[in-house]
Amino acid sequence: MTTSLGSKVGGFCRGRTPAGRRIPLSVRMRQGSTVLAAVLLSWGSAAFGQDPQPPGPAYTAAGLLQLPGSYREWIFLSAGFDMSYRPDMKMGHHLFDNVFVNPGAYRDFLRTGTWPDKTMLVLEIRRAQGKGSINVSGNYQDSDVVGVEVHVKDEARFPGSWAFFAFGGKSVAKMIDRTADCYSCHAQHAALDTTFVQFYPTLLPIAQSKGTLSPAWRAGNGGAVDEPAKAVGHDGR
Ligand code: HEC
Repeated sequence: MTTSLGSKVGGFCRGRTPAGRRIPLSVRMRQGSTVLAAVLLSWGSAAFGQDPQPPGPAYTAAGLLQLPGSYREWIFLSAGFDMSYRPDMKMGHHLFDNVFVNPGAYRDFLRTGTWPDKTMLVLEIRRAQGKGSINVSGNYQDSDVVGVEVHVKDEARFPGSWAFFAFGGKSVAKMIDRTADCYSCHAQHAALDTTFVQFYPTLLPIAQSKGTLSPAWRAGNGGAVDEPAKAVGHDGR
């Protein structure tokens, strides 16, 4: 007896038991639909790369964004260390930020060099630790998450397509007001569609080869600013 799915389906379609007795039509249809459901399920999970996350952003009835619970299983883009955007910023502690993107949007980016609708980028902030276990110099990341911020592209929902959210330890967040510094700094200084692709080392070469970096970025001096940013960035930097 062969075990390939195709031959099993074929077996049901022929409508006979191994002993050659005919199976009633209703039973055959039930068996057939079970197999069909199994086939569709396996196609579905293959299409979404076994990603348990819904493919895009999810909101509560009141319009709050739900924290994507499995963002840690998404595609890792970069870890920034102690990044700050003003020379006068001196913090008493060190921070890492980790950036993740939902897998479907990442796959589209590899193909096109642009972000599709329903892209979600997550910035997770963690404190740096210096002393622990065998470590004598350098830094590693603490297990506590200090903050999670999300940048969502949802064309039908937000004017200008993108919106920012900050989850202060909660599982839902309200959209950050458009007058906030998040929008102006990202619009002015980010290299591609208000996202900081210049700092994501696997994406920058793709955007360069596809010619999708913003005209302002390409015309400018590699994004360095003559005047330091007036706004502070993440976690007050
Ligand atoms: C002064 C500039 C500045 C401001 C203000 C700022 N950011 Fe950012 N943001 C950055 C930079 C630079 C990065 C890249 C970080 C890295 O490389 O790790 C970034 C990355 C991000 C990302 C990752 C995805 C992306 O768009 O590249 C999110 C999410 C994010 N910021 C959210 C916010 C939110 C929310 C606010 C407002 C509360 C904010 N940012 C304010 C400069 C800024």
